[in-house]
Amino acid sequence: MPVSIQNIPSTEQLRDSRPKINANFDALKAASDAQESAITSKANTADVNVALSQKSPVGHTHGISEIANLQENLDAKAPSSHTHSIANVSGLQAALDGKRPLVDDVTAQTTTTRTLAATDAGDLIRCNNGSAIAVTVPTNTTVPFAIGTEIALSQQGAGQVTVVAASGVTINTPITGVAVKTRVQHSVIGIKKVDTDTWLALGDLATS
Ligand SMILES: [Fe+2]
Repeated sequence: MPVSIQNIPSTEQLRDSRPKINANFDALKAASDAQESAITSKANTADVNVALSQKSPVGHTHGISEIANLQENLDAKAPSSHTHSIANVSGLQAALDGKRPLVDDVTAQTTTTRTLAATDAGDLIRCNNGSAIAVTVPTNTTVPFAIGTEIALSQQGAGQVTVVAASGVTINTPITGVAVKTRVQHSVIGIKKVDTDTWLALGDLATS
C-alpha cells in the first residue's frame, strides 16, 4: 500500500522559515552562553569543602605551647599572690628607721659617765654604780635629737645620776641652784627636748 506523505513543506516554505530558525537558534545560543557564564562564576563545591576543612571551629581553644612566647612571658611574671621583703620596697627601711619603737628600750649604764647618743631617744637608761654617774646632753649639732625627744634616767644603785648640759645646751629645771640629778635610789628623772638646744628636766629631782 503506498505511503501518503502529507504536510511536507515546500522548498519555498523551508526557505521562508530559515530566518526564523536562525533567530531561534541565536536566542538559544545566547541563553546557553549566559547560563555557562553564570555557572563558571560560581565556586566549586570541592574547593569550598577544602577551604572549610582548613578552618578552626568558632569555639576552639589553644594550649599555652601553641602561643608563641607565652610560656616565657608567664615565667617572667610574679604570681598573683606573692610577697615582698622590706628591701623590695624603696625607702621603706629608711622610713622605718625614722620611727620610734612602740615600746622603748631599757638600757643599762654601769660606768660613771655617759654622753647621750641618738639611739638613746625614748629609752630608759638604768644607771647602776656605787659612785655618782654623770650623763651629758650633747649639743644639737653633735646629736640632732628631734624636738620632743624624751630620755628617762633611773638611779639603780647608790650613785646619784646627774644630767650635765654640754656647753651651749640649756636644761631648764624648777629647782634653782641645784644640779639636775636623781633624788634617791630608784628615783626616775627625765629630760624632754623643747628647742634646738633646750631641754626640760622632769621627774623625781633632787632638791638640794
Ligand atoms: Fe609585687
